[in-house]
Amino acid sequence: MTTTDGPEIHRGLNGVYFDRSGVSFIDGREGTLLYRGYSIHELAEHSTFEETAYLLLYGELPTAAELAAFDADLRANRAIPDGVTAVIDSVKRGHPMEVLRTAISALGAFDPEVADNSAEATRRKGVRLTAQVSTVVATHHALREGRAPTPPDPALGHAANFLAMVLGEPPSERAARLMDKDLILHAEHGSNASSFTARVVAGTDANLHAALTAAVAALSGPAHGGAAENVMRMAQAIGDPERAADYVKALRANREPVMGFGHRVYRAEDPRARHLREDVKALSLEMEEPKWYAILEAVVDAMKPYARLGVNVNVDFYAGVIYYLLGIPEDLFVPIFAVGRVPGWTVQVIEQQEHNILIRPLTAYNGPPPRAYTPIATRG
Ligand SMILES: CC(C)(COP(=O)(O)OP(=O)(O)OC[C@H]1O[C@@H](n2cnc3c(N)ncnc32)[C@H](O)[C@@H]1OP(=O)(O)O)[C@@H](O)C(=O)NCCC(=O)NCCS
Repeated sequence: MTTTDGPEIHRGLNGVYFDRSGVSFIDGREGTLLYRGYSIHELAEHSTFEETAYLLLYGELPTAAELAAFDADLRANRAIPDGVTAVIDSVKRGHPMEVLRTAISALGAFDPEVADNSAEATRRKGVRLTAQVSTVVATHHALREGRAPTPPDPALGHAANFLAMVLGEPPSERAARLMDKDLILHAEHGSNASSFTARVVAGTDANLHAALTAAVAALSGPAHGGAAENVMRMAQAIGDPERAADYVKALRANREPVMGFGHRVYRAEDPRARHLREDVKALSLEMEEPKWYAILEAVVDAMKPYARLGVNVNVDFYAGVIYYLLGIPEDLFVPIFAVGRVPGWTVQVIEQQEHNILIRPLTAYNGPPPRAYTPIATRG
């Protein structure tokens, strides 16, 4: 907060409550995260992405019949229109986040309810987008590799189908479960930059496709979703656990952030990181690639002095190595975050719409004082 001369400034809206929300509870000091009152730890261990998405969108855990209907709805909506595939093909050389942003925008042009901002229609569109976004990411990956996209498999759950479409072959049960857990952990996170962006767009009465197009743009930056991609690059650049300390020292000497560390809200460890840490450890050993886990832990050791200042690992620190070990290319790491986050963005938009207000803060002017316009001929 800055108070010198004039109004109080909260740069980055740090610490500012701009509204109420009944979706995620976050206690950054304790490292607590609840979705609709349920601990992220219990959801990561016992839930599925489909069940968690239902919880977020409808507010309660589903009955078996409700979950079956919701799951069937997701499976039935996985296909994307040929027109969107053509758009993806035409921009396939872009980064997958640029392609995803373009494709979500294009999906709006094909959605029969695009302009209906009622909560019911927005929820239906959110379900469709939850299903379609995974197909968009996989379709783009196939097209840029020069192969025909793997069609969605209605026999597979959401995470398994996504992996099957990306990799071109059905995943192992273990890989599908890891991806499922990863999507649960990324499904919602309060007023983060991309969800806030979605709410700002929804605040103007724009529709869900517009809000999610903007949310994907916000997620693409390295300070938000891009970190997972950069963590894997960092692990590769370090190459050996013995070099981690020097690597961290060199970054900090230039005051550069270490990717996968730090968080605007958490001062304790990001509660989502714990689950992925255990998964990286098990997967690295199982795949006989213990080096990656060892490098990550060496980076954590080197960052210990910063932990005392509240800079700890965040969700993206371990996610990247899991994706890498599952055989997923690095530039798909951020799109995977988006695949998980669609239900969270959707429910944030619904909350905004249900109690809407234009989000329009102020900036305190610090430019030149009033002055007279000078004709161009007199400017030297
Ligand atoms: C996420 C992030 C943008 C949060 O930024 P922020 O809220 O503005 O963080 P702050 O500026 O309050 O950080 C407080 C202090 O911790 C330091 N710090 C924050 N993140 C750090 C990191 N990743 N590595 C090293 N030091 C870090 C800052 O330099 C600052 O120190 P200073 O006061 O001496 O300048 C930032 O931590 C970051 O860039 N992290 C790396 C990218 C990442 O992993 N993003 C994914 C988030 S889920």
